[in-house]
Order: sequence, then C-alpha cells, then structure tokens
Amino acid sequence: MKILVIGGAGYIGSHVTREFLDAGHAVTVFDNLSSGVRENLFPEAEFVHGDILDYPSLLRAMRGGFDALIHLAAFKAAGESMLKPEKYSLNNLSGTVNILNAALEAGVMKLVFSSSAATYGEPQYLPIDEKHPTVPENYYGFTKLEIERILSWYDKLKGLRFAALRYFNAAGYDVAGRIQGLERNPANLIPVVMEAACGIRPEVQVFGNDYPTKDGTGVRDYVHVSDLARGHVAALEWIERHDASLVVNLGSEEGLSVLEIIEAARRVTGRTIPAKIVGRRPGDPAKLVASSALAKATLGWEARYSDVETLVRTSWEAYRRAGKA
Ligand code: WQD
Repeated sequence: MKILVIGGAGYIGSHVTREFLDAGHAVTVFDNLSSGVRENLFPEAEFVHGDILDYPSLLRAMRGGFDALIHLAAFKAAGESMLKPEKYSLNNLSGTVNILNAALEAGVMKLVFSSSAATYGEPQYLPIDEKHPTVPENYYGFTKLEIERILSWYDKLKGLRFAALRYFNAAGYDVAGRIQGLERNPANLIPVVMEAACGIRPEVQVFGNDYPTKDGTGVRDYVHVSDLARGHVAALEWIERHDASLVVNLGSEEGLSVLEIIEAARRVTGRTIPAKIVGRRPGDPAKLVASSALAKATLGWEARYSDVETLVRTSWEAYRRAGKA
C-alpha cells in the first residue's frame, strides 16, 4: 500500500514509519519538524516538509494517490495543555480537521489515529478497558477524545474508516536500534532517568512516594514504541479486512512503579542514578494499567517488548548511539 505518515519524523512516528517500510509499504512522511527531527527520516521514505495548518500544501501532499494515512502530528504534553489550551486547540483540533477534510477531498478513506489513555481521565476501575468512562482530566486528553468523536461522525457520514489507538505510556526505542534522533526536551519518566544516568541532569525527582501502590510511587503501563509501531500495521490491516472502524487500547497490561524503573535503569546502565523523593505532581493518578484484551481479540496484537529490561535497555542504547552516555 501507499501510506502517508503525518508526524512521521517524531518519536513514535519514526518507529511507525520504519515498521510500515519493513512490512513492504511505500511511505511518504509529512512533518513540520517542530518536534520531529531530520535524523529520523529514512532514505526509503519520501519526505514532505509541511504543516497541517497549511491546508493547500496538506491537500497537495494528500493527492499523492495514498491508500491510507497515519496521523501522529500532535502536541502531547498534558501539563502544558492546561496552561496553553489555545495551542492544543489549534494544532490538535484544527490541524486534525484539516487532515480529515483534505483526506476526504483527496479520497483517502482509511486512517490510523494516535489517541491516548488520557481520554479516560482518573481511573474508576483497573485494568482500564475501552468501556471505561471517558472523562479527560486535561485539555490534551480532551482534544484526543473530541477527535475520536469527529472520526466516528466522518465514518457515519462519509465512510472514512479509522482505528483510534489509545496508547498508554509510550517508551523505549527501536529494538533493532535503527532510530537515530532522540526526543527533544523530554519530560517523561524513562528519558528523564536516562538523562540522570548520563549526567545531563543531576538527579531524578520522584514525584511522591505516598501513593497507595506497591512501593508508594506512581504505577504506569509502559508500552514499548516498537510494540506501538506493530499495532499501527495490524490496525491498518484490520481496517482493510473489515471495512470498519475501531477504538482500541494499546498497553502492556503490566504496572511498573517509578522506583522499579529507576532500579532497572541502575542495573542496565551500571550508573548510580541519584533519585530524590519530592512532592506529588498535581493531576497524577496513582495507578494506570490497560486491558489490551480487545487489541488481542481484534488485531491479534500483544506487547512483546514492553518488559522493564527491554524498555530501559533500548532507551539506554539510543542515548549511547546519540553520544549522550
Ligand atoms: C510517569 C510516572 C510520574 C517524571 C504522560 C501524559 C499522558 C501520556 C503519556 C500521551 C508518573 C512519574 C515522571 C519525573 C517522576 N501522553 N515521574 N519523575 O504522566 O503517566 O503520562 O505521558 O498520550 O497524557 O500525561 O507520564 O512519564 O510523565 O510519568 O516521578 O521526572 O513517573 O509521577 O507516576 P504520565 P510520565
């Protein structure tokens, strides 16, 4: 198939691009390089430097005879979205409306969309399945949920078929070591731990150790980015086979605490990694764990690389390749 990957130079987008290329598809990457980096572009994929807010250039790119598109072009910092909702409205909401309208105009009728576990908000029960109420706690999660709703209207009204993939905590780097660019200004736990291991930052601040969890620190479902990438290929194949749409979790179904991640990183890197307990970060739930039963039943997808060793090892290898360690 011929596939357009919007946001394909970013952290998750580059892994997804690699996976589609490996599965034998022809890929074009469309990216404005605001968070994406040139090192993440592959010679086998065409590259269009463009912005989703620029409708004419988006439509021009979309008219390349594509069978499907993958949309990963979004801002994703939950905390920032509460301070700058305008930024998230413009890029995530208006930008996506542009993409969907251009897709309809160009006749691209299949789409895989990066949604998020942030659509659920504070967990009411665990593990979180797709029937869990969706009450986002931050504006970022709201934008993802709104887009899912627009997608289901476009499906009903126009026949646009989609898979909305609700990622849990994306982490790690390509298990085969082919991704060169590191995410810029990371704030998520595993890259922060890597930076502390490299001496880029003096310590890891652990945001609270008084949660009702196994060791008092926050528990999350970390899903390896190589697993996420496989999920996109499986989702597109599912849309092809069923001519239908799907909203599905992608998570590891394993809860890892902040301290378990830091311990694993000390083992893998052989570095000390100073850590200091500080206060809770506002808005952080104690524990988030996915049910991926639906992904297994529909897509035949299960996490393969999302164990703590592989998450940390592949991250460390990426930091070494980039000359940071
Ligand atoms: C993980 C755990 C922190 C940093 C965010 C977004 C969410 C989703 C994924 C896209 C928590 C703790 C972290 C640090 C720490 N994004 N922590 N010290 O908050 O679960 O999810 O990314 O869809 O929308 O909110 O991820 O990596 O920031 O935190 O102790 O320096 O690590 O408290 O328990 P989070 P995270």
